[in-house]
Amino acid sequence: MSAAAGAHPQDGVAAIGIEPALVQWQRVHGRHDLPWQRSADPYRVWLSEVMLQQTQVATVVPYFTAFVEAFPTVADLAAAPIDQVMSLWSGLGYYRRARHLHAAARRVMTRHGGIFPADPAQLAELPGVGPSTAAAIAGFGFGARAAILDGNVKRVFCRLFGIPGHPGETAVVRRLWAHAQAELPPQGAPATVLRSYTQGLMDLGATLCTRLRPDCLRCPLQGSCIAWREQEVTRYPAARPRAPVPIREVSMLLLFSGPSVLIERRAPTGIWGGLWSLPECASGQEPAAASVLSAAGVTLPTERVTPYARFEHAFTHFKMKASV
Ligand code: ADE
Ligand code: SF4
Repeated sequence: MSAAAGAHPQDGVAAIGIEPALVQWQRVHGRHDLPWQRSADPYRVWLSEVMLQQTQVATVVPYFTAFVEAFPTVADLAAAPIDQVMSLWSGLGYYRRARHLHAAARRVMTRHGGIFPADPAQLAELPGVGPSTAAAIAGFGFGARAAILDGNVKRVFCRLFGIPGHPGETAVVRRLWAHAQAELPPQGAPATVLRSYTQGLMDLGATLCTRLRPDCLRCPLQGSCIAWREQEVTRYPAARPRAPVPIREVSMLLLFSGPSVLIERRAPTGIWGGLWSLPECASGQEPAAASVLSAAGVTLPTERVTPYARFEHAFTHFKMKASV
């Protein structure tokens, strides 16, 4: 098995055996007539998997069709000018994928004689092909037994195994890979089972175990799903931990003159841009030295400045702590 998959032998976890139920469900309820499923040509499989990395099936279909029409083989794609590739990709988004696609096609020509390698580790060396995409190409294109773990499958596994933590964390990803590896159909399973299993994981994540409203009542894995048992389905996967909010300390001057209070118009940019507020001093500056005073030629003896109040105000990217 490929080292690229990121599973380590010491991560070994026990399989719960999802394959039979998942494969049976995929055969009845899964997707079978997507244009890239009509052949196991590794070139078409690779092309579709790259397009599907960050884009939904319905959006990908017409682009996939246009690409295989314009470039029926990897040799055609490699020989095409990058501008033609970019222009056919136009509208699909994440344009780095198109540059990687072209570079990978050239590398298949120069390093692999125009034939996609079957080994997931070699596939993962192609530009734009990560470990999960490599496993999907090896599985769909060559009938290999290789574990996938894309964003949808991470969500399914976090729920199924009740895995806490954000799936961007290394320790969580490692655990997920271990489960992905453990649940694979047994060694020697027929390629048709391997394909249905991998497609089943993708289909389950895309159609039932969706991010917001998973349809657990129809799910073939409900009986072994920890998140379902806990009735905490949408708590998994955990949200990305929030970076601590920076704190900005400022001083503000509340200067009375009879019944009036001094306010100043703020700079046009920055927080409260162009609005009127109490004069604000940069952090560490004495309020008595506020620029509004020096601009007016007013000096304020420091001993006449006394603490009046403190308040906090939360902005999107920082928290202000103000001393008045
Ligand atoms: N997402 C990624 N690969 C896919 C595939 N082969 N079919 C459907 N959705 C996918
Ligand atoms: Fe996802 Fe619900 Fe199925 Fe669990 S039971 S795997 S949460 S759809």
